[in-house]
Amino acid sequence: MTGERNERVAAVAEDLIESAKEVLHRHDVTHSEYRAAWRWLIGLADSGEIPLFLDVFFESTVERLTNDRKPGSEGAVQGPYYKPGASRLEPPYVLPMRDDEPGEPILFTGSVTDLDGRPLPGVTVDWWQAGNDGTYSGIAEGVPEWNLRGVMETDAEGRFQVRTIRPAPYHIPDSGPTGELLGMMGRHSWRPAHFHVMLSKEGYETLVTQLYFEGDPWLEKGDCVDAVKPSLIIDIGKSEDEQLAGSYGLRTPFLTAGYTWQLRGAA
Ligand code: DHB
Ligand code: FE
Repeated sequence: MTGERNERVAAVAEDLIESAKEVLHRHDVTHSEYRAAWRWLIGLADSGEIPLFLDVFFESTVERLTNDRKPGSEGAVQGPYYKPGASRLEPPYVLPMRDDEPGEPILFTGSVTDLDGRPLPGVTVDWWQAGNDGTYSGIAEGVPEWNLRGVMETDAEGRFQVRTIRPAPYHIPDSGPTGELLGMMGRHSWRPAHFHVMLSKEGYETLVTQLYFEGDPWLEKGDCVDAVKPSLIIDIGKSEDEQLAGSYGLRTPFLTAGYTWQLRGAA
């Protein structure tokens, strides 16, 4: 035996296995069904989709257990596509993107405060998102390595502004075992369009969250990973501001959006 007894693992693993056995009983699962599931799991491991599978089915529950009923802005799942080590950008911030990046440009204005509404300067804003074609760099083939990923910082007023593109609704890869399972369960594999952010500053709890867009049909039809919370849905506006457009290389009118996050102090 290489593992020392761990009370927490023992308690959770015992219950998990007991729950699975109860399901086998309840549905009178046959040996050939057991073998089919066994093969499916091996295929899941071989496909490299274990992170996707776990995050699709279980991360939002753990995220809610961690963050709900606590003060400050709401979190959301990190998902399997975060990559640490994106470049630190310099203001005026423009997310790294292709010259012909598909999707409408959008200027996003973020503010970060503490629980009393005092602006927090020097917050690290690690941002990642899918493109308008529903691909994440570093995951989908043919997308430049760090496309639409970057690390920014809030200024003296606790603000940052970044030009990016409006992402499109996104479906998780549906040709692998995770999509196959969703299909057999009669469920779709779509997520509403979203931005991902991770906000961190010494002395504060790191917030991993997402933002969604009002009017996205998948907000109504349901997110396949069940990560949407009403407080994370933002409106998209339009601006004619020539000066702002000029400093971000945009043409008027351009899309705008924004959000204010409140961080809670580290425990
Ligand atoms: C998941 C989350 C995402 O944001 C995403 O783009 C894909 C999958 C997830 O939780 O599985
Ligand atoms: Fe995502």
